[in-house]
Amino acid sequence: MLKTCFFYCLVDGLKGREAYKPRKEVIPMDKPFQATVDIEVLPAHFPVPGAGFLPVNAFVIKAQEPVLVDTGMGIDSEEFMKALKSVIDPRDLKWVWLTHDDADHTGNLQRILEAAPNARLAAYSLAVLRMSTAGPVAMDRVYWLNPGDSIRVGDRKLTAVRPPLFDNPTTIGLYDDKSEAFFSADCFGAIIPSPVRSINDLAEGDLAQGMAGWASLDNPWVHMVKSDEFSSSLDKIRRIDPKMIFSAHLPPATGKTEQFLELLAQVPSATPSIAPNQQALEQMMAQTKQ
Ligand SMILES: [Fe+2]
Ligand SMILES: [Fe+2]
Repeated sequence: MLKTCFFYCLVDGLKGREAYKPRKEVIPMDKPFQATVDIEVLPAHFPVPGAGFLPVNAFVIKAQEPVLVDTGMGIDSEEFMKALKSVIDPRDLKWVWLTHDDADHTGNLQRILEAAPNARLAAYSLAVLRMSTAGPVAMDRVYWLNPGDSIRVGDRKLTAVRPPLFDNPTTIGLYDDKSEAFFSADCFGAIIPSPVRSINDLAEGDLAQGMAGWASLDNPWVHMVKSDEFSSSLDKIRRIDPKMIFSAHLPPATGKTEQFLELLAQVPSATPSIAPNQQALEQMMAQTKQ
């Protein structure tokens, strides 16, 4: 049976993995890399106490009208801007596609909108309205998209697709019909033992456990959904049949769509992930002092 409770090995896991230490200084992002001829990855890894690392990716689609997908974490601000500038002049960006308004996706949004005056912000309406409660968002730069809506970005069409799993009601992933890639927001993410650039560098067991654990932890509602109903939302992705999956929280994956869908299909009926409680936190803190 699929095991989703990766925190079950909290203390044991710490023995074999890098112990949790609060971030006292900015940890540089990983080096950007080209995943395909027209897609650049801006990767970072966020340490998750007792479990490993959560990849946090943004992407640049080098379309005729270049697109930045998500804007990284605020704690990596300087490094993120450097990474972005190493793959494209921000003034050339025509679009910033925000998959949702969670902090690990919006961290550098304002900075980027200033550095990219020619870019429009493609996002779900509720995301824009919610962000407007923190500060002004120039509505004449915004482009509202619902699932199923598309924009043309020169040489390709990008279609908003709500992924089967989402931790935020403003979530819109996107399908790029030229590269046949699905940018899946938080869906298909995994907490992994150590940072890697390729999905092929992950052991099958670590991938399966990490993806199932993340799916459960980040989407506790999935355990309230009947497996056959959840399967129909997986089938939507099956019909799109993306050749590549670019999750915000997993290294890029080529040719893995069916494997990932089969993994997620088991999650509704699996044991829910349990987040660490105060006792676990105290154990972790004690370990870091040893
Ligand atoms: Fe999220
Ligand atoms: Fe996220």
